[in-house]
Amino acid sequence: MKPKVQGLTYDQADLTYRIRELEVSITSKCHLRCDNCGFYIPHQPDPAQTDNIISEIVNGLFHLQRLNIKIGSLGILGGEPTFNQNILATALKEFSKFDNIERIEVVSHGLTPQNISKETLQFIDKLTISIYFDSEELSQLWKTYLDKFAPHIELSLRTDKEWDKWLGSEIADDSKAQEMFDYCWYRKHCVTLERQRLFMCSRIAKLSQDQEGRILDDKTSFDEVNNYLNQNSFIASCKTCTPMMGLQTVKAGQQPDDRILKMLPNAINFLKTELNGQS
Ligand SMILES: C[S@@+](CC[C@H](N)C(=O)[O-])C[C@H]1O[C@@H](n2cnc3c(N)ncnc32)[C@H](O)[C@@H]1O
Ligand code: SF4
Ligand code: SF4
Repeated sequence: MKPKVQGLTYDQADLTYRIRELEVSITSKCHLRCDNCGFYIPHQPDPAQTDNIISEIVNGLFHLQRLNIKIGSLGILGGEPTFNQNILATALKEFSKFDNIERIEVVSHGLTPQNISKETLQFIDKLTISIYFDSEELSQLWKTYLDKFAPHIELSLRTDKEWDKWLGSEIADDSKAQEMFDYCWYRKHCVTLERQRLFMCSRIAKLSQDQEGRILDDKTSFDEVNNYLNQNSFIASCKTCTPMMGLQTVKAGQQPDDRILKMLPNAINFLKTELNGQS
């Protein structure tokens, strides 16, 4: 039998509790309008309770560090994490100070390279570009640009053709919901920190189901986090979780208009200019 998913793992080799992949959204804004966006753009709730998103995230990271929980990979997402150059720069600078974070990954649509300053590239370990554009030239330029200015970055070009269906009114019975929860891909890869709470998956965070999250504050104990991430029973949201129901997939990254085509020339020109100007 397949092992059930644990949101918090224990590694015998280094005697460490670890969240494999923790996601944070530094903005809910995005240039694109992908149909079935897994983050509910353009209806994503604000990931912060105050107007200082970065200090809220830093606060949550501090509590995980206080509880001796390591983060295998911290995913910086949005919306689109490059939407605001200054917020991304501050986020990378602040998050890179945590020694319990093993790797920092930025996940972007790759259409606004001008919003990742060269100084901040140093803080990124992995850059994942979700390819929604139809341009081999832009993919190649990204590779050449990083080879030249940030060769330490692992570049991953993500070309999903199909996505999980995110919207729908299907309801699972209790035994199906329990099975989806036990083997949930999102619990393994998308533990989420937002609005000063830990969420076992990004879906319940983006659905604003804050009561299904776990507040992270001075009083939070290790056992509370462990019991939350490794609980045995499914939560209410699992019953409506279309992405885990194994339904027919949808086409990835579909836009309502030609906005990607309009953004492409700027992205290409920026990378070309940087490469030519500093050769
Ligand atoms: C929500 S996006 C946020 C970051 C950035 N805007 C982007 O699109 O790369 C993060 C990742 O989720 C994936 N994603 C979005 N909607 C999805 C869906 N319905 N099913 C599966 N993956 C999805 C995207 O391909 C992307 O790699
Ligand atoms: S680029 Fe698409 S998938 Fe990414 S946040 Fe924007 S709308 Fe969602
Ligand atoms: S709501 Fe869906 S994604 Fe979240 S834990 Fe339940 S089955 Fe997994």
